[in-house]
Amino acid sequence: MENIDWGSLGFNYLKTDYNARYIYTDGKWSEMQISSDEYINMHMSASCLHYGTALFEGLKAFRGVDGKVRLFRVEENAKRLQSSAKRLCLPVPTIEMIVNACIEVVKRNERFIPPYGTGASFYLRPVMFGTTAGLGVKPSKDAILVVYGSPVGAYFKGGIKPMMVAIDREQDRAAPRGTGDVKVGGNYAASLMSGEKAHSLGYSSVMYLDSAEHKYIEECGACNFFGIKDGKYITPKSSSVLPSITNKSLRVLAKDMGLEVEERRIPVEELSTFEECGGCGTAAVISPISKIYDIDTKETYTYGEEVGKVSLELYTRLQDIQYGRAEDTHNWCTIVM
Ligand SMILES: Cc1ncc(COP(=O)(O)O)c(C=O)c1O
Repeated sequence: MENIDWGSLGFNYLKTDYNARYIYTDGKWSEMQISSDEYINMHMSASCLHYGTALFEGLKAFRGVDGKVRLFRVEENAKRLQSSAKRLCLPVPTIEMIVNACIEVVKRNERFIPPYGTGASFYLRPVMFGTTAGLGVKPSKDAILVVYGSPVGAYFKGGIKPMMVAIDREQDRAAPRGTGDVKVGGNYAASLMSGEKAHSLGYSSVMYLDSAEHKYIEECGACNFFGIKDGKYITPKSSSVLPSITNKSLRVLAKDMGLEVEERRIPVEELSTFEECGGCGTAAVISPISKIYDIDTKETYTYGEEVGKVSLELYTRLQDIQYGRAEDTHNWCTIVM
């Protein structure tokens, strides 16, 4: 195993040995190509560089308590990648191509997969670009799909710590019929400015509201949002929210725990009624929220400095499955080796 200080890793790119690539050209995909090159050669007039035909995914492989390496819900990420590609009029790779590339990248970079007990994991980043050179705005006929990975550190070092977030209406991350429900680069570019503003005010991320009326909760930085009250797990239903695979999994676990699950619009004022709330996503699983500050109304919603009981149980149940400590009753893990 690689000589890395796993405990001090953050969420940064670290060079590994191999990445996997597929090239789409002349109407068909190539076979998977294994490369150790970190660069891709593309024309300065490539579609992705000018017109944003770029999309990505993020998922993790975990070394379990039994020493086995598990990929968490890789088919779900593959399906979401397909929906992003469709939305950007790019060629759509098959689920099998994406899953096989993820498995191959995990296997070939085994020395970078963090040992069990360090809290670190191996993050996989499938990324796809439209590469046709041209000047007119039109769908790209050529594309590259690359899957690479990097070891990343535990999101919470020294225990889960709730975060503070700020509601900002100055900029929206996605429009009602825009691209908020797919994982395309432009959404993240659009979110940078409000994110920086929140950071400068001392908040970890921005809570976005629906961009038509600014009345309902949408997402929280690059996380979905959930609130807990009266034995219910409540999460926003909106066509401009990214369908989080973590959220989808937490909804199942919440039901297993006997909670009722509601997917519906959540008016901002309802924030004052939640017993617990948090963000959820691949990076942290759950990021509990201690405080939400509304920049415009100056309203503050507080939930305490400790992680709530329900959030902690959801977090533990999901991580137990990812690390092979609990039976994978929903068949979410792919054992790679
Ligand atoms: C905007 C946004 N929302 C939510 C999520 C969480 O999704 P997932 O649980 O699939 O990681 C992510 C991260 O992928 C994201 O970028």
